[in-house]
Amino acid sequence: MLKRLLYLIILVAALSACSEQEKTYKIGVSQCSSGRWRDKVNQEMLAAQHLYEADAEVVIAQSYDDTGLQIRQIDSLADAGIDLLVVAPNESAPIAEAIARTQQKGIPVIFFDRKAKTAQYTAFIGGNNEEAGQMMGNYIKRLEVSGERLEVSGKRLEVSGERLEVSGERLEKTKVLEITGAMSSSPAQERHEGFKRAMDDCADIDYVCREGDWTSDKACEIAESLLGTPHQPDIIFCHNDGMATGVYKAVVESGMEGRVMILGIDGLPGEGLEYVQFGHQVGTYVYPTHGELIVRLALDILTGKHYERENQLHGMLVTPENVDIIASTSTELLSQNGHLVTIQDKLEDYLGLYNTQRKIIAASLLVILLLITAVVLLWLSIVKTRRALHDRQAMHEEQTLFYTNADNRTLRQVFEMSPDQMPIPRSQDTIFAETLNEAIRENMSNPNLKIEDLGDKVGLSRVQLYRKVKSITGLTPIELLRQMRLQQGYVLLTTTNKTVQEIAYEVGFGTPGYFSKCFRQQYGKYPMDLRT
Ligand code: FRU
Repeated sequence: MLKRLLYLIILVAALSACSEQEKTYKIGVSQCSSGRWRDKVNQEMLAAQHLYEADAEVVIAQSYDDTGLQIRQIDSLADAGIDLLVVAPNESAPIAEAIARTQQKGIPVIFFDRKAKTAQYTAFIGGNNEEAGQMMGNYIKRLEVSGERLEVSGKRLEVSGERLEVSGERLEKTKVLEITGAMSSSPAQERHEGFKRAMDDCADIDYVCREGDWTSDKACEIAESLLGTPHQPDIIFCHNDGMATGVYKAVVESGMEGRVMILGIDGLPGEGLEYVQFGHQVGTYVYPTHGELIVRLALDILTGKHYERENQLHGMLVTPENVDIIASTSTELLSQNGHLVTIQDKLEDYLGLYNTQRKIIAASLLVILLLITAVVLLWLSIVKTRRALHDRQAMHEEQTLFYTNADNRTLRQVFEMSPDQMPIPRSQDTIFAETLNEAIRENMSNPNLKIEDLGDKVGLSRVQLYRKVKSITGLTPIELLRQMRLQQGYVLLTTTNKTVQEIAYEVGFGTPGYFSKCFRQQYGKYPMDLRT
């Protein structure tokens, strides 16, 4: 009973420690590279950890454009017990196997921004790269057509007009250079597709494409190799704004500033948007981040809600005309998100503290309950042991007294005396012993004599009689009765000529055989042996 109570207490305490602590889903994020765009999306994801119904813990790994490192990071994230993997594959082909391994472990996979060469993914979320490429291509065509570009970009770009229009006639085709990101990655492939499509149907554009690797250094190097040559481009479209800065550097260094129009993609405050504002670029494209939507999609998947498999985020063309308004709102949003992250960090601290405190309280409660239980158990066992000790001691004393103590010997002897041999009573016990002795002697010949009958004679219940007789003689009333019958039998056998049978009945045995058996047990010989 007590054990069960103890288990119950432990169970209740354990449950209260774990209860109401809702599951936090662990979302592992594998980022292919670093940089402003990645920082922004990371910040948005971190800020959204406690934004939705279910809580998320976002763990981010960065692989710095190293596919091998990214594969190892994916494997170790999956082994670290994440509930879902969000991945932006550095290269689309080599990552596919690691994705398959992750899925085999039962972990859903979201591709974001970039895709891998596999159809085995749970969902995709990211910008529309083909649309981005095509939009930039179409914008370039607008710039180029009828010298509009001179007006759109104003004073900063007029130099290029020199070469295009001599006495109102176009002498040369506009040279457009596309510098791609690493073509092993899906956004570079898709941006190129879109851009090429826009360029394809354009007869007055001379379009060439060079492969870059997303870095500004590589883009700078490509631009340098063409600037000042007959192949110098009029317009250079880079797959991101970081690369555009490399191109701008090359243009400035070669003294061609104002003669080459530069475009990029990403459209971040402090980067592309600023370059358009400064006139370094004629355009960019806001390549959407929306980290909060990534977290929402992940939680929808994890909590079994409905979700779309393909989630295209929308971007926006940025030109010198709309850049100021876009830049101010983006900067505002970015700083608000920064505040959110700060709040989020504090929240994390408080939550951590709160959880620790709760665990400590639950543990203390458990310890207190266990202590109380232990004390109760200890107390009960002390009481039990004491009682047992007391009983044993009483019995022991009784036995010792029975054999050593003169008083008790006297008391016991009472049962061995006939009433006329009785000494003058000395105590309650003696009186009781004498009364019982008399009662037994008077009634022992009745084979149906019951202990209750003896109890009635001495005014005690069966239980009281049992305790009293036991404490005085060390025998139970039944044993005492039998012993006295045998003693009386012994006396009669040695002092009279009565037959064994007669004596057996006289002292109250049901049968002479049983009398003989008990007699032998008591005295080590048969009644008949006393007669020879
Ligand atoms: C950042 C980045 C962005 C680009 C995107 C494409 O890592 O290179 O500049 O738009 O990745 O995946």
